[in-house]
Amino acid sequence: MAPAISSLLLLTCLLAIPSQSRTLFAFEQQQLTREYVASLPEEDRQLFAFDDQFDTEIASAADKPCRYNSTDGKWPSEKAWNGLAKQLNTSSSLIKTIPQASECYGSNKNVAKCQELGKNWANPTLHIDDPSEVLSPIYQGLTCQPPSIYDSINCTLGGYPTYVINVKSVLDIQLGINFARNNNIRLIIKNTGHDFAGKSVGASSLSIWTHGLKDIQFFDNYVDESGYKGPAVKAGAGVQAFELYKAVSDKNVVVVAGEGQTVGVMGGYIQGGGHSPLSSLYGMAADHVLGFEVVTAIGEFVTANSTSNTDLFWALRGGGGATYGVVTSVTVKAFKDMPVAAASWSFNSTKLGAAGFWTATQAFIDGANTYADNGVYTYFMIAPSPTGKDYTFLMKPLFAPNKTTNELNTILGPFLKQLTSKNIPLSPKITGYKGFYPAWQAEFGPEMGSNVQTAVGSRLFPRSNFADDKSRNTTFIALRETVEAGQPIIAFNIAPTSARGGNVDNAVNPAWRNAVIHAIMSRSWDAKSSVTDILTARKSFTTVAMQKWRDITAGSGSYLNEADRMEPNWQQSFFGDKYTKLLSIKQDRDPKNVFWAVNSVGSEGWAVQSVDGLPNENGKLCKVSARTSE
Ligand SMILES: Cc1cc2nc3c(=O)[nH]c(=O)nc-3n(C[C@H](O)[C@H](O)[C@H](O)COP(=O)(O)OP(=O)(O)OC[C@H]3O[C@@H](n4cnc5c(N)ncnc54)[C@H](O)[C@@H]3O)c2cc1C
Ligand SMILES: *[C@@H]1O[C@H](CO)[C@@H](O)[C@H](O)[C@H]1NC(C)=O
Ligand SMILES: *[C@@H]1O[C@H](CO)[C@@H](O)[C@H](O)[C@H]1NC(C)=O
Ligand SMILES: *[C@@H]1O[C@H](CO)[C@@H](O)[C@H](O)[C@H]1NC(C)=O
Ligand SMILES: *[C@@H]1O[C@H](CO)[C@@H](O)[C@H](O)[C@H]1NC(C)=O
Ligand SMILES: *[C@@H]1O[C@H](CO)[C@@H](O)[C@H](O)[C@H]1NC(C)=O
Ligand SMILES: *[C@@H]1O[C@H](CO)[C@@H](O)[C@H](O)[C@H]1NC(C)=O
Ligand SMILES: *[C@@H]1O[C@H](CO)[C@@H](O)[C@H](O)[C@H]1NC(C)=O
Repeated sequence: MAPAISSLLLLTCLLAIPSQSRTLFAFEQQQLTREYVASLPEEDRQLFAFDDQFDTEIASAADKPCRYNSTDGKWPSEKAWNGLAKQLNTSSSLIKTIPQASECYGSNKNVAKCQELGKNWANPTLHIDDPSEVLSPIYQGLTCQPPSIYDSINCTLGGYPTYVINVKSVLDIQLGINFARNNNIRLIIKNTGHDFAGKSVGASSLSIWTHGLKDIQFFDNYVDESGYKGPAVKAGAGVQAFELYKAVSDKNVVVVAGEGQTVGVMGGYIQGGGHSPLSSLYGMAADHVLGFEVVTAIGEFVTANSTSNTDLFWALRGGGGATYGVVTSVTVKAFKDMPVAAASWSFNSTKLGAAGFWTATQAFIDGANTYADNGVYTYFMIAPSPTGKDYTFLMKPLFAPNKTTNELNTILGPFLKQLTSKNIPLSPKITGYKGFYPAWQAEFGPEMGSNVQTAVGSRLFPRSNFADDKSRNTTFIALRETVEAGQPIIAFNIAPTSARGGNVDNAVNPAWRNAVIHAIMSRSWDAKSSVTDILTARKSFTTVAMQKWRDITAGSGSYLNEADRMEPNWQQSFFGDKYTKLLSIKQDRDPKNVFWAVNSVGSEGWAVQSVDGLPNENGKLCKVSARTSE
């Protein structure tokens, strides 16, 4: 297409001047230039201009009390949307959202297809590979779910984006950002849609869908001016954990990434910090970033690393996704592969009785500091049965990187001995692996689920909670009471301390540096509950159940990527004393809030006016002071 080619020509001229050390993927080399925008007819210029280009007329468009929606008369014309579609890379597309479950509603419904969707709805791929669907549709507003999951009565767009750009080049991202900003349209970014709080959906929005950016490049000996010399990997924003782990395993190295197979490593995960099965050895994923390529709020494509755009480099390592720009790729350190020993086990109160069950559970949790100090990571669940009368503890897995099975037996010795002395026999399944990749593949279960009726909250439990008998007891009792009150817990025993991650100055929540347990609790309700009942359940979850955890972990925080959408005082909780600096970088880099997501840095001034009164993305995004009608 003509515009794409001319922008490519301009790009080639420009690229000859700046640094040669910037390694760009092919998809990063097709860019929008100011010269190209200037060459467009006047009306297209208005649509695609960079924020600092031309007149104030465009620059002030984003300064309205609410983002426009498709029925308030200010929405871009069909011609303007077609104009956007035409400028995109020839292999990209502008997709008008049609919810998958629209097959289930209306006069043209397809009963067979709808039943199939309902059956497969828990399969995450169905949502990840869809342009607009997410894994927590509860925050989309549940306006088009398969009726076997949730009866939406009619299928409407609700909190889904109106349009999605399936991006295949940096050009597409720049066009999308400029178009949304210049037309006062809400902009969102979706990568995989894993976000727990609905940060990858938004009503009446244009979505940048980064899922297709799959390039991976390996460097045997990367030399960074900051002093790092060694293996490194550059991966596109759409690369998922299973793809990255496979690619680096072929090179006999490991990278610090998450346990979830389909999580997008370089999107929300790493920008929010990123905990990993390797975190007790190497700290957080964000601690190992060498550089980002990113498109900023003004539409510019820049490198953020230890020498360029250092404010963004700092903020993007822990400050959260959807805040400072659209990241297109990230370069991270890689480390020598290592053997792994893993253990898994489960026990329950049906067999052990409640007293035995809690004794065994406490015996394990009491060792939190010791396991973490041994470089171990654990992923465990403590769940009540559906009747609430029985409990199950499931360790799946205890993951000991760089350890042999003998070493792992030694680490587990005191725990097993204690159980034996209490007449609780337990023989964990212990397996040794040659490398990280086979261990990760074998030990972690598949991901399931689509959240339509559950609130989730989390807390970082510091080392001091396990330092002495009294603290250990207090902590254990709080966890036990959580489960006894019907709320399952998923917890991670990990210590991404600065000592282990290297003493990195970045935006990672400081609460992580003292943490040894990251625990998540959840509470579900009947999906058919009234708005009032849901709000009551949520409020009690947030202010009563979660408050018990806050009370015994004063001054700590919560992990922003796996947190309660209703988290009180989230600035402190998610960012601690880093918030002031993060906010000033946000105000400097994105004063118009082109990027906005709930509970993200600088989000305070705006809120979604949800149409049903529930905390979700189904409504207009307005300045907090604005009235709905504006
Ligand atoms: C099954 C499962 C397993 C998980 N396992 C782990 C784990 O082991 N460790 C861990 O730390 N977390 C884990 N998480 C949480 C995970 O880190 C978050 O859900 C994270 O937000 C996922 O990022 P994403 O880009 O894949 O998802 P998305 O929902 O697509 O995006 C999340 C947020 O980041 C923004 N974003 C996405 N891409 C970009 C980009 N390129 N530039 C700027 N902003 C962007 C989005 O707008 C949104 O705000 C898990 C979650 C699930 C559901
Ligand atoms: C479109 O993007 C792809 C990479 O995703 C790139 O290879 C191709 O050259 C781009 N097209 C143009 C016209 O630049
Ligand atoms: C669903 O659509 C029908 C027909 O358009 C309408 O009469 C009804 O009010 C709608 N129901 C809801 C809950 O939106
Ligand atoms: C940071 O990026 C710039 C621009 O691409 C590059 O010139 C510089 O060498 C990079 N710095 C480091 C430390 O790699
Ligand atoms: C409880 O554990 C025993 C083994 O110890 C197992 O046989 C049984 O199926 C478990 N019961 C439940 C309800 O999980
Ligand atoms: C892994 O173990 C070896 C041998 O015990 C040790 O030399 C190395 O430092 C360990 N690596 C890490 C990352 O702890
Ligand atoms: C902790 O609880 C155990 C029983 O679970 C008890 O024996 C012990 O005395 C308690 N310790 C403190 C300091 O409260
Ligand atoms: C747009 O916003 C107005 C309120 O300003 C609302 O009445 C209307 O339903 C919204 N339209 C859509 C499609 O959300």
